[in-house]
Amino acid sequence: MAHEGKTVAVVGAGTMGSGIATVTARSGHRTLLYDVSEDGLTRGTETVRGFFDKSVSLGKMTSPEAADAKANLTGTTDLKDLASCDIVIEAVFEDAAVKKQLYRELDEIVSDETLFHTNTSTLSVTSIASGSRRPERVVGTHYCNPAPLMKLVEVADGRHTADWAHKATIEFLTSLGKTTVVAKDRPGFIVNRFLIPWENSCIMALEAGLGTKESIDAAITGALGHPMGPFRLLDIVGLDIHQQVATRLYEQLRDPRFFPPPMVERMVAAGDLGRKTGRGFYSYDGSRLFGS
Ligand SMILES: NC(=O)c1ccc[n+]([C@@H]2O[C@H](COP(=O)([O-])OP(=O)(O)OC[C@H]3O[C@@H](n4cnc5c(N)ncnc54)[C@H](O)[C@@H]3O)[C@@H](O)[C@H]2O)c1
Repeated sequence: MAHEGKTVAVVGAGTMGSGIATVTARSGHRTLLYDVSEDGLTRGTETVRGFFDKSVSLGKMTSPEAADAKANLTGTTDLKDLASCDIVIEAVFEDAAVKKQLYRELDEIVSDETLFHTNTSTLSVTSIASGSRRPERVVGTHYCNPAPLMKLVEVADGRHTADWAHKATIEFLTSLGKTTVVAKDRPGFIVNRFLIPWENSCIMALEAGLGTKESIDAAITGALGHPMGPFRLLDIVGLDIHQQVATRLYEQLRDPRFFPPPMVERMVAAGDLGRKTGRGFYSYDGSRLFGS
């Protein structure tokens, strides 16, 4: 793929950050993956590299393409290394205070030209942007998980997002091969307004004994054409993340369909968070966060 000449920093090397860094490195952008945790960074970098190796073994990338993509990726735990980036894609914990603090720190490090993309699922883009003294440069970009495989990104402007920042964001996402939809800065944007109640109803169906996880997954993929069933998807998303997103949306929308069913709490308490812990609805032997 042609090199777009952008230097992109992905902040947070967890499920979404490693997935997004895979996409940007694969698309020819110089990609700097940053995490506060050394372990988190190592895991995230290995996930990205593992994805490229797997893509070669599946015939989806050539070895030289994978080598180029890997060469585009660098890791760091020093925020100052982000000084020369054109775009920061933030995928840290879903916590407004953590996100705002990060933007405050970034304001002192990156140039005035740098765009900030926040990958929040439930928080207000306007509120996150208030952490920065350049809210006109902050745009919500909600990638679907797994980011290397799913095409859609929702784009939501904060109250002070500039038109040019919105346009530059759409252009950049298009350079990644993504399809964009514009959403309002409202809880859950568009996708999670539908996805979360649907996932909850699948979990309740499992709890009620309507089918096994395998039969419900097979029914959904077979009948509705989804690329994977709800339990495979929830294992990729992470049960802790599902619980957090569902609870936050319930708190904001006061609609009981968003409240996570009791099975979610039990799984989180047991540490069965999905692929990242090796066990969720299904068991996994590798530490890969997403497939190829
Ligand atoms: N998991 C999903 O399906 C999904 C989908 C779309 C959007 N999101 C959103 O993406 C964001 C990240 O979610 P995730 O599932 O990747 O979480 P995660 O827990 O897998 O990863 C978060 C990472 O951020 C790092 N981190 C925390 N604070 C940091 C800081 N101040 N600076 C740098 N790194 C920091 C952590 O060490 C961790 O590696 C959240 O806002 C979440 O709502 C998640």
